Amino acid sequence: MLDVDKVTVIFQPYGKRVQVPKGTTLFEAALKAGVGLRSVCGGKGSCGKCKVIVRKGKVDFKYNVEEKLLTPEELSKGYVLACLSKCLTDCEVYVPPESRLERPKIQTEAIIPKVVPNPAIRKIYIPSDEFAVAKFLESIKEERTHLAHEIESKLMDIAESSNEGGTVILWNFKGKEVLDVELGDTRSKAYGLAIDVGTTKVVAYLVDLNTGEILGLESDYNKQLIYGEDVISRISYALEKSNGLKMVQKAVVDTINDLINRLAQRFDIKSYEIYDVCTAGNTVMTYLLIGKDPSPLLKTGAEVPRESYLINAKSIGLNVNTSAKLYCLPCAGRFLGGDVIGDIIASGMHRSQEIALLIDIGTNAEVVLGCEGWLLATTGPAGPAFEGWGIRFGMRAIEGAIERVKIDPSTLRAEYSVIGNVKPRGICGSGLIDLLAEMFRHKIIDTLGKINRRIKSPYIRGGPDGYEYVVVPKEETAIGRDIVITEKDIANLIDSKSSVCAAISVLLKKMRLSVYDITKVYICGAFGRYLDPNSAIAIGLIPEFPNAEIRYIGNGSLAGAYLALVSTKYRDEAEFIAKSLAYYDLMKDMDFMDEYLAGFVLPGKKELFPTWWEASRRNR
Ligand code: FES
Repeated sequence: MLDVDKVTVIFQPYGKRVQVPKGTTLFEAALKAGVGLRSVCGGKGSCGKCKVIVRKGKVDFKYNVEEKLLTPEELSKGYVLACLSKCLTDCEVYVPPESRLERPKIQTEAIIPKVVPNPAIRKIYIPSDEFAVAKFLESIKEERTHLAHEIESKLMDIAESSNEGGTVILWNFKGKEVLDVELGDTRSKAYGLAIDVGTTKVVAYLVDLNTGEILGLESDYNKQLIYGEDVISRISYALEKSNGLKMVQKAVVDTINDLINRLAQRFDIKSYEIYDVCTAGNTVMTYLLIGKDPSPLLKTGAEVPRESYLINAKSIGLNVNTSAKLYCLPCAGRFLGGDVIGDIIASGMHRSQEIALLIDIGTNAEVVLGCEGWLLATTGPAGPAFEGWGIRFGMRAIEGAIERVKIDPSTLRAEYSVIGNVKPRGICGSGLIDLLAEMFRHKIIDTLGKINRRIKSPYIRGGPDGYEYVVVPKEETAIGRDIVITEKDIANLIDSKSSVCAAISVLLKKMRLSVYDITKVYICGAFGRYLDPNSAIAIGLIPEFPNAEIRYIGNGSLAGAYLALVSTKYRDEAEFIAKSLAYYDLMKDMDFMDEYLAGFVLPGKKELFPTWWEASRRNR
C-alpha cells in the first residue's frame, strides 16, 4: 500500500533509494540510505559542505543567502544544502564529487619500532588428565591469579568429559586472571587488535599475539562523522539528543566491527579468536568509545583523570571473544589524549637524551617537547583549515585532493599532483601548505599574505572574496569549476599556521631553549605523511631547526596502540608518561598572543627563522 506520508529519495550517482517520512531532511535521508555526505557542522546548516543538486521532486530549502555558503553560480545550478532541505515529494538527488564522503585513500600506516612480544594475553594448553589440571590449579594459586568459580567448573568439565584437553586464556596486566577455558588446543589462535580511533577515521591492525606479527590493516571513516566532523559537535549531539551518547558510541563501535569483519574475512579467522583490543584516541574519542559522559570535557580548565581504561570489550558491543578486554591508552588532559601518548611511545623521545620536538597536526596541534626525564606538552587550536574547513576548495586528503603543488616561476602556472591520480576536486592540507609556500617564494603573495595586484597573469584575478589565484582551470577539474585559492583562504591558513608555530615557540621559551637546541623533530599523523617540511618551514608552520633531523613517524597513535597491545611494558610506559608529563595551557599564557600575532608576517619572527631572515637581509 502506498504510504502518503512517506516519500522516496534516490541518491545518484549511487542509485541508492530510501523511504522516509515527508519533511525529513535530505541529510537524514542520506544517512538512512547509507550515502556518505560531508559535514563539518553535523547537519546544523553552518558549514556548507553537504551540497547536493535536486534533479527531480520538491524540497523545502530554507537558506539565508547572506551566509554565502553557496555561490550564486551554485544556486543558479540548483544546489541546495542537504541538511536545510526537507523532502516534500519523491526526489532524485545528485551528490556532487566535492560533497561525497568516500573511503579514505590516505596513508594509514605506522612506523613500528622493533619490540619483543609480551602481551597481556597468554594461552596455556592443559591435557585432559587430572594431574595436569591439579598442577595448573596449584600454579595459578601460587601466582595469585583470579579464577572465577564458573570458569573452574568449565575447566573441570573439559578435563573430565573430553580427551582433547583444554586451553586456558590467561590475562596478566593490572592483575592476573583466568579469562576463559576453550575446548582443545587453541594456542595457535590468539589475535588482538590495535586501533587508532580518530575523529575522522579509524584504523585497525590485526595482530597475531603469539608472534607480534601484524597480519593486516583496515581503515574507514568514523561513522560518527554523521554527528559532525569535530569533537565539539559530537559531544553536543551526545548530550543534547535523547540517547545521544549511546548513538554516538554505537557509531564508532559499528565502525570498528566493520573493520573486524573485513579483517576476519581477509585472514580467515573467527572474530571470537580476538582476545585483546588496544585503542589510542583523543580524549573525546576515548570517552565516547567507552560510553563515558563527555560533559566535563566542555569545561575550560577541567581536570581529566590521567588514567587508562580497561573494560570488557564485549560490554560495549565489540564483535570479539566474550572474555576479551578493551584497553584504551591513557589520556593526560582534555586535549591530550591516548593518541598523543601513543605518538610519544612510538617516537621513543621519552627514552632519549636528545631534546626532541613532536608535532601532530589535526584540528588541534599537539606539541610535545622533551627527552628522557622530562616532557612538556601543549595543544594549540590549529583550526580545521588544514583539513579543508573554511577554505573554498579545501578538502581532506582523499582521492581527488591536490596534495603537492609547484608553481612555474616564468608562467606562474601551478603544477600539481592529485591523490589517486584522478582529476582534482579540491586541495588538501599538504597541497595548501605547498601552494602557500610556492606563492610566497614566487612573490605572488607578500609577507602579509596579500596577492600582489601588480602581477599581470591569467592566474591572478579579482573574485567574490577579493583577489584569488587560479590553481587549476575548470577544464582540468572533476567539478567543472576553476579551483582557486582566495585571499580569505590565505588569511585562514596564516591564522592556523601561526597558532601551531606559536604553540611551539611558547614551549621553547618556557624551557629557555632556542631552535638550535633541538636535534630531532618528529612529525606524526596522516597529515604529516604528505607534508613537505620545506614548505611547512617556508610558510612558518614550524620553525627552522638548523640542527635537527626531521623524521616522519607515520600514524604514531596506531603504532602506540600496537606497542601497548603486544607488550605490557609499553602500557606501563604509557601510564607513566600520562601521569608525569607536564601540560602547559596556552590559553593562560601571556606570551601566546604575541607569538601568534608574530606569525602573521610570513614566515615568522627572526628567532624562529634565523636563516630566512639572514638571507632576506643579504638580498635587500
Ligand atoms: Fe549541512 Fe553543515 S551545512 S552539514
